[in-house]
Amino acid sequence: MSNRKWVIPLSQVPDELTVSQYIFANTDLREVSKKIGSPKWSGHIQLPIRDELQVLKADVQTLLNQYPAYSYPYGIAPSTDLYRMIYLTYNPRSLNPQISNSTPTPKEHFPAEKLLGINYGKNSYNDTLALFERTEIARSLSLGKFLDQFERTLVRSRIGIQSGLMANNKLQTELSWHVDENIFINTRLSVPIVSSHNFSIEYTCWDPEKGAPHEVVQSFDLIEGFAYSFDTGRPHRFVAKQPSNEWRVNLICGFSPWFDFDREAQAWVSNQFYGEMHPIDMVIEGHVAAFLPKNFAHRLSSVLPREKISEPGNAETHSYHPVT
Ligand SMILES: [Fe+2]
Repeated sequence: MSNRKWVIPLSQVPDELTVSQYIFANTDLREVSKKIGSPKWSGHIQLPIRDELQVLKADVQTLLNQYPAYSYPYGIAPSTDLYRMIYLTYNPRSLNPQISNSTPTPKEHFPAEKLLGINYGKNSYNDTLALFERTEIARSLSLGKFLDQFERTLVRSRIGIQSGLMANNKLQTELSWHVDENIFINTRLSVPIVSSHNFSIEYTCWDPEKGAPHEVVQSFDLIEGFAYSFDTGRPHRFVAKQPSNEWRVNLICGFSPWFDFDREAQAWVSNQFYGEMHPIDMVIEGHVAAFLPKNFAHRLSSVLPREKISEPGNAETHSYHPVT
C-alpha cells in the first residue's frame, strides 16, 4: 500500500522515456500493482450503459459521415480496409501524423514508416499517457457528452470499425492476436455502438479451475447497450464469426486508472485508487464513468465466481506492435 501522492509533471519526463516508463522508474507503481494482484471479478465484465443508445448511435453515424476513417496496421497483421479507425484522443507534440491531429490525417500525408519517434519513445503512439487530448469528433454531439462522463482521464482511445467480411480472412484474424499496455497504465472500456452476436472478442486468462500457469481462451460477444472491460495487457483479438456485410462500430475508450491528469499543473497525479483498488474493480464499483451503473458489484456477487484468473499486466514496455 502506498501512502504518498505522486505528482509527475510532463516537463520532468526526459526525452528518452515515455511518461509511463518514467512513472515506473520513479514511483512504486510496479510494487503496488503487484501487491494489488487480481481483480475480485474474474475474466471480462459486461455492464449495461445508462445512456440512450439510439441517440448515441444516430450521432456516431452522423459523425462517421463527416470524419473519414482510415485503416492502419494492427498487431503484426497488415493494414486492411476491413478494419478502420478514428482516434478519440491525440497528442499535438507527436511526430506520428496518425495521432498528432485533432482530425484524421489522410494516409498519403504520412512520412516513411521507419521515421524515428513515430512508434516508440516519447510522444510516440506508445506514449499512452501523452495521448490524452480529445479529438474534434470526441467533442462532438452526444458522443462528446458521453465521453464527458468519464471520471478518469481518457488516454489512447479510438472508434474501431470492423467489417463482417473479416471472417473470410482467417490469416488476418489469426495474426490479430496482440497485447496492449499494462492495465494500470491504460484500462479499456469497449462500447459497441453498432454490433451483433456475429462479433466477438477472444482473450486469454488463467484457467478458472486450475489457475496459473494453465491458460485458456475465453470469448464474449460485443452486444449493443453494454460496456465491456478486461485485461488487454494479456493476449486478445477481435473476431467476425461468419462473413457478413455488417459493420461493427465500437468505442474503445482507454482511461488511466491510478493517475489523473491535472491540466493546470500539466502533471499526472496519483489518485485515491492508487495501490488500493484494481482497475477492473474500479469499473464495477462505479469509479470510472457516470454512464456505468453505480454499485454494480452487488449484482455480480451472486453470479460470478471470484477465482484468480488474471494477473497484473506486462511491464512498461507494453505493446509489441505499433498500432492497436
Ligand atoms: Fe487491443
